[in-house]
Amino acid sequence: MSHLAVLTSGGDAPGMNASLRAIVRSANNKKIKVYGVFNGFEGLIDDRLAELKPRQVGNIIQRGGSILQTSRSKRFLDKKYRNQARENLLKRDISSVIVIGGEGSLKGAACLGEEGELNVLGLPATIDRDIPLVGPTIGFDTAINTSLQAIDRIRDTASTSNTVHIIEVMGRACGWISLFAGIGGGAEAVILPEFPTDIEKLASQIKEQRSSGKQGCILIVSEGACNSSGGEGLVKDLNKVSNFDLRITKLGHIQRGGNPSAVDRVLASRLGAGAVEGFLSGNKQCVVAQPKDKIKMIPFNDLSGILNSEMEDYYKLIFRLV
Ligand code: F6P
Repeated sequence: MSHLAVLTSGGDAPGMNASLRAIVRSANNKKIKVYGVFNGFEGLIDDRLAELKPRQVGNIIQRGGSILQTSRSKRFLDKKYRNQARENLLKRDISSVIVIGGEGSLKGAACLGEEGELNVLGLPATIDRDIPLVGPTIGFDTAINTSLQAIDRIRDTASTSNTVHIIEVMGRACGWISLFAGIGGGAEAVILPEFPTDIEKLASQIKEQRSSGKQGCILIVSEGACNSSGGEGLVKDLNKVSNFDLRITKLGHIQRGGNPSAVDRVLASRLGAGAVEGFLSGNKQCVVAQPKDKIKMIPFNDLSGILNSEMEDYYKLIFRLV
């Protein structure tokens, strides 16, 4: 295999650095030279590449953001610039590229792969979890944990002062953050772009809950809900049908920052190492993913003797990432 390039793109997500570390170190263990591209697709167009050695990705597994920086590149939508990017790779004998990013970035990765000469793999990294089939995305778990810290605090004051709180979370046009933050934070309702909300019904449910003695109320709303007007839209809608004493908190970019959670560090490490293995076994033009299964019924009798085999992949991974 010739050389490998890696870039982080789009909205940054906690765990991007952990996946970068895994890629550089597992590639190094297989004697593959890795280039880091600075500033996402923009840097690829502008030829901002430098070799990355294993020690340069030390002490980053715990850091949010991306040491490579990211960009949302408009130029990369134009084939002329994608060709320029391809030239920058080929002149260094780089034939494999790993794009770490969200939905838009993976579309960019797909274009780069389809247009020839390069083998491209994508690592799903976005707090939004808005990529079908891939299951959890790198950064999602951290964003939920960060949201829950805020929601728990708001719950304290909501239940003490008996107020109705609207908490707006990110996720663009997708409601996964709302759903998980809502379930984990014990919200009274979640308002998502994907499902319609009957505002009158919601208001009367809240009234009923309050008259039955429930103290405080937390409503989680996606930024993309209420015709993309998010929390403010929900305030307007509720004010038309009720006279609740409403409070609104927008969590915003707080959800994107911070140290990645354990779940995100492990996921990012597995997917990063998985991408290098993927190339070596001939994969290209794919997303590297670890989709989660649905709830299963497992007979008691099937449980014995499998613990160690489930651990083996994780055990081996430790030694590929040093
Ligand atoms: O895609 C990640 C995300 O954080 C979305 O949840 C949000 O809508 C968007 O990025 C914000 O992007 P920016 O930081 O460019 O405003």
